Amino acid sequence: MAGRIPQPFINDLLARVDILDVIESRLTLRKSGAHRYLALCPFHDEKTPSFNVNTDRQFYYCFGCGATGTALKFLMQYDQLDFVPAVEALAAIAGVEVPREKSDRLRAEASDRLYSVLAAADAYYRKMLKQHADAARAIDYLKGRGVNGLTARDFGIGFAPPGWDNLVRALAQAQTADLTDAGLVTSRDSGGVYDRFRDRIMFPIRDLRGRVIAFGGRVLGDDKPKYLNSPETAVFHKGHELYGLFEARRTVRSLARLLLVEGYMDVVALAQAGIGYAVATLGTASGTPHFEKLFRYAPAVICCFDGDPAGREAAWKALSAALPALGSGRQLSFVFLPDGEDPDTLIRKEGKAAFEARLDGAVSAVEYLFTRLSEGLDRRTLDGRARLAELAMPYLQKLPTGVLKDLMLRRLSELTELTAEMLVRQLATAGPAAPAPLAARRRGPIESKISRLSEYLLTSLIQHPELVKELSAERRDDLLALDDCLLARLVRHLVDNPDADTAALLGYWTGETEHGTLLGLAERRLMLAGEALAREFADAVDQELAARAKANRAAALEDLRSDGSVEKLKSYWRLKRQETESSNG
Ligand code: GTP
Ligand code: MN
Repeated sequence: MAGRIPQPFINDLLARVDILDVIESRLTLRKSGAHRYLALCPFHDEKTPSFNVNTDRQFYYCFGCGATGTALKFLMQYDQLDFVPAVEALAAIAGVEVPREKSDRLRAEASDRLYSVLAAADAYYRKMLKQHADAARAIDYLKGRGVNGLTARDFGIGFAPPGWDNLVRALAQAQTADLTDAGLVTSRDSGGVYDRFRDRIMFPIRDLRGRVIAFGGRVLGDDKPKYLNSPETAVFHKGHELYGLFEARRTVRSLARLLLVEGYMDVVALAQAGIGYAVATLGTASGTPHFEKLFRYAPAVICCFDGDPAGREAAWKALSAALPALGSGRQLSFVFLPDGEDPDTLIRKEGKAAFEARLDGAVSAVEYLFTRLSEGLDRRTLDGRARLAELAMPYLQKLPTGVLKDLMLRRLSELTELTAEMLVRQLATAGPAAPAPLAARRRGPIESKISRLSEYLLTSLIQHPELVKELSAERRDDLLALDDCLLARLVRHLVDNPDADTAALLGYWTGETEHGTLLGLAERRLMLAGEALAREFADAVDQELAARAKANRAAALEDLRSDGSVEKLKSYWRLKRQETESSNG
């Protein structure tokens, strides 16, 4: 039986084949920019072309129906091929053979050999912690960190002695290729191999059946790197494994909750203090597969992060990764530790009861999500509430259907004062998850206000160009009078071409640097429509004009400080007056 097609081959293939070659032979393309071609979309009926091929980024995108993908996806969609035949067709274009992975049986045999050398290495490291001439140093280190003999035994902690070939010699009867494939040794350029782990405390990483699949090794002092992990192997996939899960399942028969922490030592110290339900990722960010796994073994997961900005950033990423795993009956919450502490230091300082009190006070994912998204928004205004709904949509969309999703929708409806029906309707059509608006938050208050507002104005205009007609004459003139910027240019163009629609606007800007920005904004989803949108838009125009006046005045004041001429003073007062007028009007 033929095995699977290796993913790296597919990536390679896509890099080799030009999407243009694939599409050109099937559609009539017209060049519309440096790296852009246009055609009538083959996937829906249309009279004006909205099917774009981007040769720079090697993908296609249709404005009309949203069809999008790589050359491979195009072959699947257009030639109606299944995945494997489509890969074969693409390989034929590139003139290469499609390789296949080994059959399941051969793979299983290879894995068995890896498990057996890993088990031998595990036994060796544990023995060295008892017997090696340098073992006292390792034991002292562990004692210094408060790890007792019982805990060390439970976690199978071992010691890789100093030297280049201790393991190679101890496992002399094993095949060198197996040691390499298990990630235990590294090949020398000159031939031969040497031990990967030297003079390190060894933490075996076990799978759920208790088989050792990898190791993490810590230096005894301050050398770098502090931790060394096994590389990815046929039996070890970092993105899926959790340190301590086997041990937790062995200790706590029916897990009511699991605690996700960052480090090996955190898991070990917590277990020793009586919190036997902590697990850690292996130096990687926590991803969706981690959460899928966690929730398979416990209905509640508490993520424990540092209280510093890096910890908060990691928590936010974790939340995003966890959403697709949050089916019914699953609870996710977050605990932030005081600055400078990790679970290892904290549990030793304050003990089990105080630490568990923190866990009991964890913030639920629902609250965390909305609190974070509301940062920098004013929920007292319609604008703020609409934007909260807009920001929340991509996250809600990631949630599987179920109680939690309903709960989140209800909470969002309370917070935004938008009806649940309206939110559900939006949800059905919302675009792909947008990244959290962090970039905007890092900037100063004035600048970010301008940019977020202008972004909103541009989004509204590109999608509903008719909004310009509904503005009062004064507002329109004020916009036209703005310093040269995309917003002013867009308004000017619309005043000159009152019947331009989205496609026409995008066509006009094709080949310009702003085209990409407008394209991105055209794909966003707006919460409001009709009269509500028009009101909101007029409101946003006022805010934008006021914010710009304020920024200009601040700049003029700066200017005045360096050059106190009468001219400058007059211009400052003019701006100041305008600002007052626009905020009153
Ligand atoms: P100690 O308490 O100093 O032993 O470390 P820790 O467990 O508190 O780890 P830390 O918070 O520094 O890092 C958390 C996790 O990130 C560790 O458990 C490792 O999995 C990983 N990690 C830390 N340092 C390194 C490193 O230098 N290299 C690699 N690959 N991973 C690291
Ligand atoms: Mn630590």
